[in-house]
Amino acid sequence: MNAIEIEDLNVDYNNVNVLKDINLTIENKEFVAIIGPNGGGKTTLLKAILGLVKPSTGEIRIYGNRQKNKSKFIGYVLQFTKFEKAFPIDVFDVVLMGRLKSSIKIFYKYSKEDIEYAKNIMNMLDIYAFKDRQIGQLSGGQLQRVLIARALCMETKILLLDEPTACLDEQSKVNIYEILKELNKDMTILIVSHDTSFVFSYIDKIACLNQKLFYHGEPELNKNTMDKVYGCPVDAIAHGDIPHRVFRSHEGEL
Ligand SMILES: Nc1ncnc2c1ncn2[C@@H]1O[C@H](COP(=O)(O)OP(=O)(O)OP(=O)(O)O)[C@@H](O)[C@H]1O
Ligand SMILES: [Mg+2]
Repeated sequence: MNAIEIEDLNVDYNNVNVLKDINLTIENKEFVAIIGPNGGGKTTLLKAILGLVKPSTGEIRIYGNRQKNKSKFIGYVLQFTKFEKAFPIDVFDVVLMGRLKSSIKIFYKYSKEDIEYAKNIMNMLDIYAFKDRQIGQLSGGQLQRVLIARALCMETKILLLDEPTACLDEQSKVNIYEILKELNKDMTILIVSHDTSFVFSYIDKIACLNQKLFYHGEPELNKNTMDKVYGCPVDAIAHGDIPHRVFRSHEGEL
């Protein structure tokens, strides 16, 4: 069964078309990356899948069901969380929030299993040592891992991540992708990333988005597709044991 089906999706913000005629199918347990330039609509697409942005036209189905409200099947790490860094809450509590079935249960008492689950995830992401720290005291990369841990605590079938490795160092990026690869055995993962150098060695498929979906398929991209998506010559992506990207210079540049 397909995890996510998007059919003829259009999204407009104040009559400006941001996503145009998007058709995309993501199979169960697929690992798909979305790449594309800034402002290309990647975050909007994730929000539409989550049910946080209403399509102007078209349909999104999650496991065959039309998406109406925020789906219980989807865990997520959004690009800019509205998380108040100054809020006096420690790391452990943030991660545990992922166990809340609904965010309005103020007096929810976590079970022993909830706590054990959160602890395991924190160990996996190497953040258990910070569990009592107030989140405002974390570095960007540490906070990012805390937010990923919270998403994993939701224990959903689908995981959406919007640039989860944006402020991580190289080793942490590898760690996160290795963890995602492991999780992908049981979960469908859709990730937005500018890390094309990394992401290609982990994913099954790639989607190139810039208002329209320019490509969706195996991660064997050619220069033409990349140039079309980004609207200017960007790079050639070489595959091999050590994937790397080679930037071509823009015309007129040295
Ligand atoms: N709430 C909003 N109201 C109006 N316009 C918006 C809103 N959110 C996004 N946009 C616009 O929609 C377009 C797509 O934005 P989006 O955030 O989806 O891009 P993105 O591909 O995620 O970019 P980035 O790589 O910079 O994160 C942009 O032109 C943006 O300015
Ligand atoms: Mg974005």
